[in-house]
Amino acid sequence: MGAATSSIQIEGASAEDGKGENIWDVYAKEEGRIHGGQNAVTACDHYHRFRDDVAMMKEMGLKAYRFSVDWSRGLPEGRGRVNEKGVRFYQELIDELLANGIEPYLTLYHWEMPYELYKCGGWMNPRSVQWFGDYAKLVAERFSDRVKYFFTINEPQCFTGLGYLTAEHAPGLKAPVRDTFEMAHNILKAHGRATQMLREYGKQKLTIGLAPTAGMTYPASGSAEDIEAARESLFSLPDLPVWTWNVAWWSDPVIFGKYPEEGLVKYEKYLPKITDEDMKLISEPIDIYGQNIYNGKCIRMGKDGKPEEVKRFDGFPRTAANWPVTPEALEYGVKFLYERYRKPIYITENGISCADVVSIDNKVHDSNRTDFLARYLRALKKAAGEADVRGYFQWSLMDNFEWNKGYSERFGLVYVDYQTQERIWKDSAFWYRDVIKNNGNNL
Ligand code: NOJ
Repeated sequence: MGAATSSIQIEGASAEDGKGENIWDVYAKEEGRIHGGQNAVTACDHYHRFRDDVAMMKEMGLKAYRFSVDWSRGLPEGRGRVNEKGVRFYQELIDELLANGIEPYLTLYHWEMPYELYKCGGWMNPRSVQWFGDYAKLVAERFSDRVKYFFTINEPQCFTGLGYLTAEHAPGLKAPVRDTFEMAHNILKAHGRATQMLREYGKQKLTIGLAPTAGMTYPASGSAEDIEAARESLFSLPDLPVWTWNVAWWSDPVIFGKYPEEGLVKYEKYLPKITDEDMKLISEPIDIYGQNIYNGKCIRMGKDGKPEEVKRFDGFPRTAANWPVTPEALEYGVKFLYERYRKPIYITENGISCADVVSIDNKVHDSNRTDFLARYLRALKKAAGEADVRGYFQWSLMDNFEWNKGYSERFGLVYVDYQTQERIWKDSAFWYRDVIKNNGNNL
């Protein structure tokens, strides 16, 4: 059991020690893009405080920590010249984690395309496969003597959908649908190429996977029909144009070496040329399968024999981000994913945004978060009886830069006072420490 973060969301030091710009650095400078005109220039100042932050993780009893490397910190132009100071930062972070008995899990791409590569087309450029592969080689050469676990790409659903369809995230474009399929294909190939490079240049036997996401599903009842309806619905593909939030288009090719038939028909006129060679690269074998799970839809079998969504009642429990609270998503989501893909599963993210405040006693009483995590972890325990669940990362270790929402959403176990950078453990952090100590037996 551990916690997760990502580079730009916590590091700060966005222009220090030779780091290049990434699309989020640039995007945040544009007026009207980010809540309150905020940016990640300082964020949680983790770049300078990482030793204290690791000490905090140790005190919390975290067994594992999932973080990401900012591509443009190691390679300021995204390729070619290496920025040794940037590399050193991650090496020191990794050493610190290991010295404190915390297993590092490294994500290569958590949405920060180096701006210089974006100018060359970013994921639209077929050469992005090569760029990402070369970056993975650097990661393997410099970090894999100490890091064993790698996730190539985080939530491709979100950075393509929000970045290129709805324009809510960097780079903030409404691209033609055709382009997004082209990008998706390149991203999947880049994942395959990175997997190959990590293996080839890894300094020990590495464990490699990816970390996609999607809304999960769960059945309205325990009946076989409803369960089947929920299962079918989870792997079905959405209509155009906002098509990226789904499981099968991103995971079937990686694990089965082919795109789902339903999509090949449904999306036919938008698809790029797909070759056997591409599919071979995309399906380079992975060792583990990650999934970021936050919520899901309740599904039942309709009278017409087709799955239908059960409408949520007014007042349905919701997080501060207005996301529904549906612990069943962690039980059924994990079961369904395991049934289909048969890979050891990691919950690479799960958590809740709450309206946290520091109370008069200087503590943060986030009972909603504790309640949420307890429910979700209980649900995961149920799934673990049937699926090979290898790990769980709470999102997030501490409050951080929530993309276009800036600092207005607080997802952390630890409260961050952005004026002083003081870290205050929320009640849920103490609770999580106990859960870890008891190995979940007190849930
Ligand atoms: C998904 C993303 O991977 C992470 O960066 C984000 O902060 C959380 N979920 C919460 O929205």
